[in-house]
Amino acid sequence: MAAKSLDTLFHEILKDAYYTERKLLRALPKMAKGANCSALAALFERRRAQTEEQVRRLAQVFARLGKLPQERTWPVIDGMIDEGPEIVEHYKMSPALDAGLIAAAQTVAHYEITRYGTLKRWATMLGMSEAAQLLDETLQEELQAGAELSALADRALIAELRSKTLAFEAVTPPARYPEAA
Ligand SMILES: [Fe+2]
Repeated sequence: MAAKSLDTLFHEILKDAYYTERKLLRALPKMAKGANCSALAALFERRRAQTEEQVRRLAQVFARLGKLPQERTWPVIDGMIDEGPEIVEHYKMSPALDAGLIAAAQTVAHYEITRYGTLKRWATMLGMSEAAQLLDETLQEELQAGAELSALADRALIAELRSKTLAFEAVTPPARYPEAA
């Protein structure tokens, strides 16, 4: 059996990326609709539009390989992306909803950062400079998304802590120790 080459591996990982982005296109509207915070909903909407463009870029990279766009399903990717819509379902009424959604989106963004970083390096090594440029555009978007999610994560946690403090103050009588008998 002939040894598989880096070209083959590049093509396989490209299929993973294509599957990830197309699956995200179905998950992000659910996450945008479910988010409590309007800034987070807007970020997920922007991510959806960005992901459409990323799918188009991947199709261009496939074309440079002389291949048609193709997906490779992988349970790890399913688990990561399904987490967002599952959090919407299970934490609908919880103040922790946004924090959970942000954590799920960060996991996916960080995965994408590592994948696009790898794909860009390999494209460069394989002499595919145009493909490397396309992959770098997506990599920069993923890095930006990671930073925006981190900023919102802090805001969501502060909001949740504040709501907890207010709830605590509303139900807790002033501190007083029972008088000694
Ligand atoms: Fe993406």
